[in-house]
Amino acid sequence: MKEIEKLLQAHGQQHLISVLEGLDKEQQNKLIAQIKSIDWNTVELWKNPEDLSGKGRVQPIDGLSLMDIEARKEEFRKIGVQAIQDGKVGAVLLAGGQGTRLGSDAPKGAYNIGLTRELYIFEQLICNLLEVCKQCNAFVPLFVMTSDKNDGDTRKFLEEHGFFGYPREFVRFFVQEMAPSVDFDGKLLLEDKAQLVLSPNGNGGWYSSIAKAGVLDDFLKLEWLNVFAVDNVLQRIADPVFVGATVGSGLNCGAKVVRKNNPYEKVGVLCLEDNMPSVIEYYELTDEMANQMGADGNLAYSFGVILNYLFSLSKLRETVGKRIPIHVVKKKIPHLDGTGALVKPETENGYKFETLILDMVRVMESCLPFEVVREREFAPIKNKTGVDSVESARALLQQNGVKL
Ligand code: UTP
Repeated sequence: MKEIEKLLQAHGQQHLISVLEGLDKEQQNKLIAQIKSIDWNTVELWKNPEDLSGKGRVQPIDGLSLMDIEARKEEFRKIGVQAIQDGKVGAVLLAGGQGTRLGSDAPKGAYNIGLTRELYIFEQLICNLLEVCKQCNAFVPLFVMTSDKNDGDTRKFLEEHGFFGYPREFVRFFVQEMAPSVDFDGKLLLEDKAQLVLSPNGNGGWYSSIAKAGVLDDFLKLEWLNVFAVDNVLQRIADPVFVGATVGSGLNCGAKVVRKNNPYEKVGVLCLEDNMPSVIEYYELTDEMANQMGADGNLAYSFGVILNYLFSLSKLRETVGKRIPIHVVKKKIPHLDGTGALVKPETENGYKFETLILDMVRVMESCLPFEVVREREFAPIKNKTGVDSVESARALLQQNGVKL
């Protein structure tokens, strides 16, 4: 107990000492284990967040436009199909998020988007992947990232639905790590008397989590991982043309992108920063950059990322230990107040700590932007209605011939 008190004092968390004193032995041990596993370097970033605004020299990046791809489609497809048949390509589904905007307690992938039949988000994604498997006559290992919050429910849901026809032996699960939350004074928050507020640590931690879980070792031929978000129901997964273009390019990763539909569209754009690939947020572009035109008549900064990347596994292995930025994000965080009552704040009351996959592009050191047709490959579900919603995704699915 003395040792833990010292640790808490050293990090300005004295408020937890009296909390610990009020717990029984079993509860104490539970909370102590959580406290001991805290990465204090991360938590203390609330005082001095990393300066993520300081960009290097930003320039447009060259990529493959729709026209370039069309002209070399068969060449790319051949390389991609071969890589898939050789067992070199795996798919990583990022499903550890909390989907707070959608507002369902179940995992986001278990959301039913059907109208006259049941059609779950997971089902549509697996259906998209199965099309590729059929074309290639080979299965792609599918790795599903969950979090402590939804791991059990996700596994149960997929088991109950027979993995929507995907062979079980090609599916692996792994759980992402969690990070604590603090209030605006840096005090660790509790969600129950012996439980810190812990939440998934952002989608940038996927590689260290998959590597730690050891599941990649079940497929020794893997050389490329196609990482994708759970919420884009139109996306092509392990798309042979994209795989072939990236593998054939000799670069360390590829990113599917859509052309921005106006200079100020709120989407991260792929560019070069000090000659390294980088994604910059829409609010980081100056007016001049947002409107700058390229020689091809398109906006110079027009490659909007859609969270569908192909990473070289050997390059990923080299990145282990290289830190990517930790974003300190203000959020509304339910927690216990001083009297032990649960408070659900209406406004932001503290910080969460997250890493983002878009920051991984930079550590990969080279990246191929690969343009896709927005109306055919981008239907993200973030909200129930309005922009990027169940409604807008349904309309796009129907436009693409999917019966709902
Ligand atoms: P979002 O940034 O849309 O977050 O995730 P979210 O948690 O799903 O939704 P909101 O913001 O709470 O409404 C983009 C992708 O990254 C995954 C999500 O599951 C989604 O596929 N993700 C996000 C993780 O896997 N882990 C995380 O910690 C965060």
